[in-house]
Amino acid sequence: MEKEAEIEKLRKECIEFCKKNPLYKDGTFLVFGEGSLNADIMLVGEAPGYNESITGKPFCGAAGKILDELLESAGLKREDIFITNIVKLRPPNNRNPTQEEIKSFAPFLDKQIEIINPKIICCLGNFSTGYIMKKFNLSNKLQGISKIHGQVFDVSTLLGILKIIPLYHPAVVTYDTNMKDVLKEDFKKLVKV
Ligand code: URA
Repeated sequence: MEKEAEIEKLRKECIEFCKKNPLYKDGTFLVFGEGSLNADIMLVGEAPGYNESITGKPFCGAAGKILDELLESAGLKREDIFITNIVKLRPPNNRNPTQEEIKSFAPFLDKQIEIINPKIICCLGNFSTGYIMKKFNLSNKLQGISKIHGQVFDVSTLLGILKIIPLYHPAVVTYDTNMKDVLKEDFKKLVKV
């Protein structure tokens, strides 16, 4: 099946799953993810916030503005990468996703990774890093994001080498503006890789 057809089938399955999910609220959207299906780089965030839930687009609120700036500073275009989250519905009051929520949405992220088959997965923040590193058997290297941000972890898969790069979540800049420079440096590294 073509990638477009496969991703459309998955989106439909995800819509049905979301309708029955406790996080589903009338008038809000599933945030499935968007970008190039042939992307070399996949960005995996945590969960949609308010703006994302009313538009269905990932990273379109405050954290999204910061992400856009970081991408631009690294010379990357949104349309050339694929951006998604682990959890596809907004947790109430933007609370952290629970392990149960992460586990229940994980098959959709797993399938997105399988279809897109990126060369690099950038995990934005601790939740995404935890899930992706465990998924690719890197539990023994897993530490808090302040320790491992910007490091590159190579994983051998059946389809070749996949690089996993944990990064701070862009929202960190809204609490501490100095973090923007740290993130910019890490994004530069990502482009070099
Ligand atoms: N934070 C995330 O992790 N994902 C979004 O889509 C928006 C904010």
